[in-house]
Amino acid sequence: MTKDTVTITNNATGEVAEFALSRGTVGIPAVDIGTLNKELGVFTFDPGFMSTASCKSAITYIDGDKGVLLYRGYPIEQLAAKSSFVEVAYLLMNGELPTEFELLSFKDEIRHHSMIHEALRVFFNGFHYDAHPMSMMVGVMGSLSAFYHSELDMNDPEHRRISAMRMVAKVPTIAAACYRHSVGWPFVYPRLDLGYCENFMNMMFSLPSQKYVDKNNYIDPVTIKALNLLFILHADHEQNASTSTVRLASSTGANPYACVAAGISALWGPAHGGANEAVLAMLAEIGTVDRIPEFIAKAKDKNDPFRLMGFGHRVYKNFDPRATITRETCHEVLAKFPSDDPLFELALALEEYALKDEYFIEKKLYPNVDFYSGIIYKALKIPEDMFTVMFVIARTAGWVSHWMEMMSEPGQRIGRPRQIYTGNDVRDYVVESDR
Ligand code: ACO
Repeated sequence: MTKDTVTITNNATGEVAEFALSRGTVGIPAVDIGTLNKELGVFTFDPGFMSTASCKSAITYIDGDKGVLLYRGYPIEQLAAKSSFVEVAYLLMNGELPTEFELLSFKDEIRHHSMIHEALRVFFNGFHYDAHPMSMMVGVMGSLSAFYHSELDMNDPEHRRISAMRMVAKVPTIAAACYRHSVGWPFVYPRLDLGYCENFMNMMFSLPSQKYVDKNNYIDPVTIKALNLLFILHADHEQNASTSTVRLASSTGANPYACVAAGISALWGPAHGGANEAVLAMLAEIGTVDRIPEFIAKAKDKNDPFRLMGFGHRVYKNFDPRATITRETCHEVLAKFPSDDPLFELALALEEYALKDEYFIEKKLYPNVDFYSGIIYKALKIPEDMFTVMFVIARTAGWVSHWMEMMSEPGQRIGRPRQIYTGNDVRDYVVESDR
């Protein structure tokens, strides 16, 4: 037996087999149990993937106990303080920070691809006026494959690159179009003279009758700084539910637009990217500071399905480093845009209350990034039903990076988990008159 193996005994049959440990650069090693069924006649059972690594990846590293998050080796705190979302997207997609020239070319290419086909704009007319923006995002992102069919040879690295670029470039345009449709405003074309975040805010809020600028004729720098930051923090998070969905769909050879549309669907759930919208819904339900204890009690009650939205995380069990960063920005944004909306005071009171509560301390349930991101978006006047869409804009950079990494690896196999069957054993069909 070598130190780099794990030995498993099937006590039911007495069979013993040795399995290699697979080690990454850092982090917990994984037992490579690909031949377990062949050797010992059993499967592993791990609902929710509590102990299962689904792939090898060189993009993002998380140490949940220490609160560490690295993109391509760079600590999230450094990227948040010094980088921009577009530079981070380049880093995730290409593996290295860009040179000045590479960054300029990347920005140019993003601008070049930021328009959507005129025929795609017409798609929006088919959506009901009050369609949730996320439902439009899923449909419109998936439909992009209909426009770029000639560049979908996934064995061609240039086709993969251009597909990824298109998604990163077009996602803010599509996102803003979803919002404009829902409020009945005319669509705004992307502008080549604006940065990624400025362009998005301009497409969201400018009107034919009114420019989206502050009194100094600028798009507010605090807003753009906060947006850049939130996009950086949400850009990737290793094998989370939506990224794993993108990878699983990709393993079938499906086109990347369809795979990212699958990722958007997975992100929508309140346990994942829908949490930032759910935080605001929860705050509205709580209503006033004096009702906080009542809702904390509900969250602790095993017979009540209510959970404190924006608290807890599958991987971070001490603190979410993204939450530490957004907490600071949240206070900065609230100071810049003071509001008499009682919701902000309520959010900060809830945070304080939960952090002192024995149940939350014992279970290591801390505010996650989405507790603060929802509050920041609200302060930036982003409508609540757009919060998860904002997450989509950022996470598209991560999804396409994982997709490109996966598709460039030789020997792809379709992802096909097994199950423990709990239904009836074989039984004979009974004709209707005898049932
Ligand atoms: N409120 C109250 N209790 C909670 C909460 C919460 N938000 N989160 C977890 N718990 C409790 C559970 O009831 C469970 O208690 P038990 O051990 O007595 O059964 C224990 O803490 C562990 O919870 P799990 O559900 O096993 O933790 P898991 O890792 O599966 O879930 C999750 C993580 C989904 C994030 C969960 O904490 C949750 O639902 N949080 C609220 C939704 C949310 O904020 N999601 C955003 C995640 S961040 C992101 O996607 C970017």
